[in-house]
Amino acid sequence: MKNSAKIVCLVLALVMCLSLCACGSKNKGAITVATSPDFPPFENLEGGKIVGIEVDIVNKIGEKLGKEIKYEQMDFDSVLAGIQAGKFDMAMSGITVTEERQKNANFTSPYFMASQAIVVTKDSPITCKADLEGKSVSVQTGTTAEEYCMDNGYDVKAFTANNDACLALTTGKVDAWVVDNEVAVAFVEDQADLVVLSEAMTQEPYAFAFKKGNDELTKAVNDALVELIKDGTVEKIFDSYGVPYVAPVL
Ligand code: ARG
Repeated sequence: MKNSAKIVCLVLALVMCLSLCACGSKNKGAITVATSPDFPPFENLEGGKIVGIEVDIVNKIGEKLGKEIKYEQMDFDSVLAGIQAGKFDMAMSGITVTEERQKNANFTSPYFMASQAIVVTKDSPITCKADLEGKSVSVQTGTTAEEYCMDNGYDVKAFTANNDACLALTTGKVDAWVVDNEVAVAFVEDQADLVVLSEAMTQEPYAFAFKKGNDELTKAVNDALVELIKDGTVEKIFDSYGVPYVAPVL
């Protein structure tokens, strides 16, 4: 082969290699999902793997759409910011739909109705919401619990990791921990000295979020989700975790 032909071959090989690499790193066909896996039973880490109710739902959505799902872990306060910045396609984190968030993100239909719960130690004098007045509470940064507790005048201590918000209560740094109801139940199962008070603070629908204006992906995921709600798959997933399913009003 002539030298010039060799060079042409080399250049061609290089171009092919580069374009293959570029395709690989963009994960064509995959949906990247931002999540904060510190939120059992919705998402948590088990042996380094992200598992939970929302993981099962989103994997089913991926199957329906014929798309691979790639999970990316981060603290909750980076999840919505990450999709707004276009770093990830979708957000899955027990996310409550609020009017404020709807200004900056697209949401699917809600798939579950949650609430905020008060968690205290068994020997606590706090037994209802009224007792919490003027008390210190731990919350996770960037959550609706944080917003609610700030708005209602509690002495709020915020932690980026949900586990640290729980730890603040068990180590006596705060009087109560405010967190989503089913997450409270999941944590208390493993911590015999804690109780979840029965009086809920708010009603909060959960949904998946997308960058504002990413209507195509929002619609595709929403259509798949609504099918999974209607055919009973979502409820079955909740059942398999022993969590009572509370349907949102669609
Ligand atoms: N539902 C609450 C909210 O939207 C808390 C979500 C926290 N999620 C998590 N994976 N830590 O603000």
